[in-house]
Amino acid sequence: MQRVFSGVQPTGDIHIGNYLGAMRQFVKLQNDYSCLFCIVDLHALTVPQDPETLRKKSIELAGLYLAIGLDPKKVIIFVQSHVPEHPELAWLLQCMTYFGELGRMTQFKDKSKGKEAVSVGLFTYPDLMAADILLYDTNFVPVGNDQKQHLELTRDIAIRFNNRFGETFVVPEPMILKTGSRIMSLTEPDKKMSKSSENQYSKINLLDEPSQIKKKIMRAVTDSENVIRYDPENKPGLSNLLTLYSSFTDISIEDAEARFKGQGYGTLKKELADVIVERLSEIQNNYKNLDLNYINEVLKEGAEKASSIAKVTIEKVKDKMGLLPIK
Ligand code: TYM
Repeated sequence: MQRVFSGVQPTGDIHIGNYLGAMRQFVKLQNDYSCLFCIVDLHALTVPQDPETLRKKSIELAGLYLAIGLDPKKVIIFVQSHVPEHPELAWLLQCMTYFGELGRMTQFKDKSKGKEAVSVGLFTYPDLMAADILLYDTNFVPVGNDQKQHLELTRDIAIRFNNRFGETFVVPEPMILKTGSRIMSLTEPDKKMSKSSENQYSKINLLDEPSQIKKKIMRAVTDSENVIRYDPENKPGLSNLLTLYSSFTDISIEDAEARFKGQGYGTLKKELADVIVERLSEIQNNYKNLDLNYINEVLKEGAEKASSIAKVTIEKVKDKMGLLPIK
């Protein structure tokens, strides 16, 4: 069976962009692939975190993985820091990555812009991500559009390693959806919806109350034309709402456009809010019924299964690079 790997950072609140762009795909893939889904807490440390909050958010994300429908009997759910082979391989890959390559990463440029203290971890973040993926002989990586550049670098590193040391890594392919891979902010629709945005009205979190969801959708920025037309360049706010409607109802953008043609933005907003509330209520009900001991058990078992795969890869890589084994 072909392998799928993806990860989400346990930072901020998980929003519908994370869900539609990545996490919802995980659920669909679990029946046809051998899947690992990771809570990438070491990546979270690349910017300052409050220790208690980080621990709380890691458990919350594990709960959300289960609540959206991932089945731990079918997939491996685990925490990155529970498998030390991740940072170990990241180091080995850092020694094969060029300074210029990391400097060209747009996520690094965006996250470091205007900041005085930027950690080295933020710079080498893509190597840790490459390690996550390459440790498991991953064929496919379901992610949002913003991770495309990191995936390209991962492929380059894998190919470089294979050329230098012989066939070792599977070269992974990104899986990026046509619709929903870049959900935009509700308040500034020319920017992507982002966990780190301080404006709560810019995003809908998976654990938001129905009243909050409705308020956020009704306040979403559109335009004054009052014509329903999918046109991301000239009508980014409205087009984002059509994308959301299309993604949540599994109908095409064209059908969503046709459905609301000739009606006011208010009608689209109201129906969209209802659709989101309905879907998120299901997730929230599942989430409320989860037991902490159960989540901990899933993570423990996940770490054991992930480790057993990761150990084989790291030994192979160290051997190829000329590191001396314990005799
Ligand atoms: P993170 O935690 O920022 O986001 C988790 C996933 O959500 C996607 N995403 C979006 N999709 C659509 N619209 C948006 N507005 C939006 N915002 C975020 C992201 O593309 C991502 O798929 N570097 C990764 C985590 C990671 C990883 C990995 C992913 C670490 N190691 C290995 C895949 C494989 C990140 O920061 O995701």
